[in-house]
Amino acid sequence: MLEIVVIGIGTGNPEHMTVEGIGALNAADLVLIPRKGAAKADLADLRRAICERFLENPATRIVEFDMPVRDAAGGYRAGVDAWHREIAARYRRLLEPETGRAALLVWGDPSLYDSTLRILDLLAADGLAFARRVVPGITSLQVLAARHAIPLNAIGGAVEITTGRRLAEGRARAGATAETTAVLLDGDGAFRAIDPEGVTIYWGAYLGMPDEILVAGPLAEVAGRIAETRAAARAANGWIMDAYLLRRG
Ligand SMILES: C[S@@+](CC[C@H](N)C(=O)[O-])C[C@H]1O[C@@H](n2cnc3c(N)ncnc32)[C@H](O)[C@@H]1O
Repeated sequence: MLEIVVIGIGTGNPEHMTVEGIGALNAADLVLIPRKGAAKADLADLRRAICERFLENPATRIVEFDMPVRDAAGGYRAGVDAWHREIAARYRRLLEPETGRAALLVWGDPSLYDSTLRILDLLAADGLAFARRVVPGITSLQVLAARHAIPLNAIGGAVEITTGRRLAEGRARAGATAETTAVLLDGDGAFRAIDPEGVTIYWGAYLGMPDEILVAGPLAEVAGRIAETRAAARAANGWIMDAYLLRRG
């Protein structure tokens, strides 16, 4: 029976691969590598680099496929649902003929803002028979905390993990429900929308990668510098991935 192994690969540094992940890669008959367009070529390159470095099983096949592009027209949720169905259809075409182990390499850890496991639910609901296994990976939040050499939580405190969209909409505020708010998927510097009084920001871009950038300090003082650094890095590279922690008190 087909087994789909979802392997967390860390956030840009091949050295984030765990020993368990390397073992699962080498036990796979097939590895699927998504291509996400030229602007995100580095992301597919990382998966290729991981295979080149760690894959020693000559029988493992590597198959690259084009990811569909999310339609930004219409509602956000409707666009995401349609996109997931399209990805599921592509996986189905690739995986239906398979009977062994297929590996999917997921950025960071599959439990954090990643839809691969939900897409596998769609595949199962669509009648594809398979077993699933998840190998955890290092998340961007772990790398962010490590690079700034800080714990994720304040003593006995709570951590809220949210998106830039929710922060910008006021559905999350640093210190409102938790001492620490961790923000991912922020396309537009939502940290500028909150009251900076008493808030410290720990920001990181391209975490784990050669271009890594870190800025930390009182939000009131460093927000402008982060916004400028972010815009310049995005213009230079054509894409950016950044994450940050907001801590009150
Ligand atoms: C779709 S989510 C995937 C998260 C991933 N599953 C994880 O465990 O980190 C993508 C978001 O994660 C964050 N992210 C992932 N990799 C990053 C990196 N190397 N540097 C900074 N942020 C990163 C960014 O906020 C980005 O918008």
